[in-house]
Amino acid sequence: MFKILEARNLAGNIYEMVVEAPRVAKRALPGQFLITKMDEVSERIPLTICDSDPVKGTIDIVFQPVGVSTHKYVDCLKAGDYFEDVVGPLGQPSELTKMSMDELKSLKIIFIAGGVGTAPVYPQAKWLHEHGIGCDVIIGAKTKDLVILEEKMKKVADNVFVTTDDGSYGRSGMVTKCLEDLIAEGHEYNYCVAIGPMIMMKFTCLTTAKYNIKTIVSMNPIMVDGTGMCGACRLTVGDEVKFACVDGPEFDGHKVDFNKAMQRATLYKTEEGEAMLRYQEGATHHGGCGNCGGDK
Ligand code: NAD
Ligand code: FES
Repeated sequence: MFKILEARNLAGNIYEMVVEAPRVAKRALPGQFLITKMDEVSERIPLTICDSDPVKGTIDIVFQPVGVSTHKYVDCLKAGDYFEDVVGPLGQPSELTKMSMDELKSLKIIFIAGGVGTAPVYPQAKWLHEHGIGCDVIIGAKTKDLVILEEKMKKVADNVFVTTDDGSYGRSGMVTKCLEDLIAEGHEYNYCVAIGPMIMMKFTCLTTAKYNIKTIVSMNPIMVDGTGMCGACRLTVGDEVKFACVDGPEFDGHKVDFNKAMQRATLYKTEEGEAMLRYQEGATHHGGCGNCGGDK
């Protein structure tokens, strides 16, 4: 059992929980995710890790309720309650954590954080800051009320640029416009990490391709069970088939087939759609069970 120490509304429909999970807190690296389970019978929900404190043994999760389980998290779980299970850290750590100091120092990094996607950007910026590497961050939100983690981000990034779709706070327009404006103003970047809605990551990649800026995206939104077993997070990266939960969640955004991933995610939501995917692709999963080899 994993005790919830704090549970609060961060903004709009976005919630934060601080959970006691010492083993996860000790091992979590930026880019990784975890799976939560409210009780024995509830479904497994993959969530990104927003922050971790190995000394206190706590992790922060930030999420937006979309299905029954995450709505139950908001309605039923308060400080003092427990998750039945918190499994992690899962997935591959961010590419940044595997680079040498020389490689890191050669990067001019811009993070593009869209809405709830600001949460998984924070640990990456924090990790870089702890290693003496600077970065800029664009936080994009629909309106002023939906901007999250701005103050926390300012403590770990060189510059934080906030932009709102309706211009109610910070700059006006979507993150892609903000990036183009920054480049026009003379900011130079050669490495971008974009985390947010799929459509944002797709258009960010189209923008960064014009400027030859390497771009990493997080394909977390297409994950369902987070274990390599359900096949939901299958995607095409270059000419390879990958699974976001096992091979990612982070990939080279210029190689990701976003249109296919978004179409697949839509199909996966209905039984008929799932049947169509099985018909088109076979019973695709990663083969993480070790028994069948999946479709690799
Ligand atoms: P949102 O719809 O409010 O969008 C956030 C920002 O993305 C916008 O303010 C805008 O600047 C930018 N954006 C949106 N559409 C764009 C477009 N067409 N072109 C350029 N920029 C665009 O975001 P939200 O409601 O907070 O986010 C919800 C989504 O974020 C969910 O789909 C969730 O799955 C996803 N998410 C992704 C990750 C990840 O790891 N990639 C993590 C958490 C949440
Ligand atoms: Fe099910 Fe990746 S989320 S296989």
